[in-house]
Amino acid sequence: MADMEMGEENVAESLVDMDKVRTIIEACKTGNMEVIDALVSESPTFAAQQELETGQSPLMVAASYGNGNLCQYLLEAGAPWNAIDRQGQCAGNYATANQHWGVVNLLVDWGVRAELVLGMMERTKRDIGESVTLQAQPGAAENQPCTKPDYLRQRLHYTADGQSLLDADKDAVMMEWERPLMKAHAQIMMEGSGRRVLNVGFGMGIIDTALQELSPSHHIIIEAHLDVYNRMIEERWDRRPNVQICFGRWQEVLPQLVSEGVVVDAIFYDT
Ligand SMILES: C[S@@+](CC[C@H](N)C(=O)[O-])C[C@H]1O[C@@H](n2cnc3c(N)ncnc32)[C@H](O)[C@@H]1O
Repeated sequence: MADMEMGEENVAESLVDMDKVRTIIEACKTGNMEVIDALVSESPTFAAQQELETGQSPLMVAASYGNGNLCQYLLEAGAPWNAIDRQGQCAGNYATANQHWGVVNLLVDWGVRAELVLGMMERTKRDIGESVTLQAQPGAAENQPCTKPDYLRQRLHYTADGQSLLDADKDAVMMEWERPLMKAHAQIMMEGSGRRVLNVGFGMGIIDTALQELSPSHHIIIEAHLDVYNRMIEERWDRRPNVQICFGRWQEVLPQLVSEGVVVDAIFYDT
């Protein structure tokens, strides 16, 4: 999932009344809707602005207080769900740190929907540009895009604090705060005994770690990025007896696995 660094438009003090930004942030602590509504009505950008020193946004504060209705209100007013503060923490981190799981789910849902819409826009742009090719190869799996068109050529890096995997634009590919969600998915995938599971996209290996803890009989991991694959090798995922790593894009690897007659009980997909 992509994550946004503090944007220049958010820190351009000359354009923003920082006193009002601080006022809305304070109001989010107590859930003072009168103040919040007045500022957002004055300008919806107040829902999205970040305090200069800390990088905190109204959404981060609402999330840390577990105020789901306020989070929903701010998201609908245009607050970016994935903005990060000066410590690299997003609203999801704030909610997770305070164990507000309802708010975590709300933010994840919102993020997933945003990613789906962006993906659809990306596909529409591509389809218009490449309609001739697609007519020649309708529905070809290898035409399915990755998150960003040049993603697989970008250098990725795992942050030293172990909190994120970032791409070359410093957008987050994966963040630690999604661990509870990954664990919940792993539980569902592993219901029953002797489960054979397939995960598409290793990222930080969070769901794969959760799956391993539940002892699958066979655990396939498809990963397309070389930097991530190298990390898997460093962490000796290839030495685990029940793990099969398939390096490559799922678009190519899956048809190969199917042709080999591989059968699994559950598939998780998060690219
Ligand atoms: C959001 S991360 C997955 C995070 C993972 N669920 C976890 O628990 O840490 C997405 C991963 O999918 C990989 N990926 C992206 N496009 C892919 C593709 N076409 N085929 C296979 N893996 C892909 C990325 O390199 C990245 O490692």
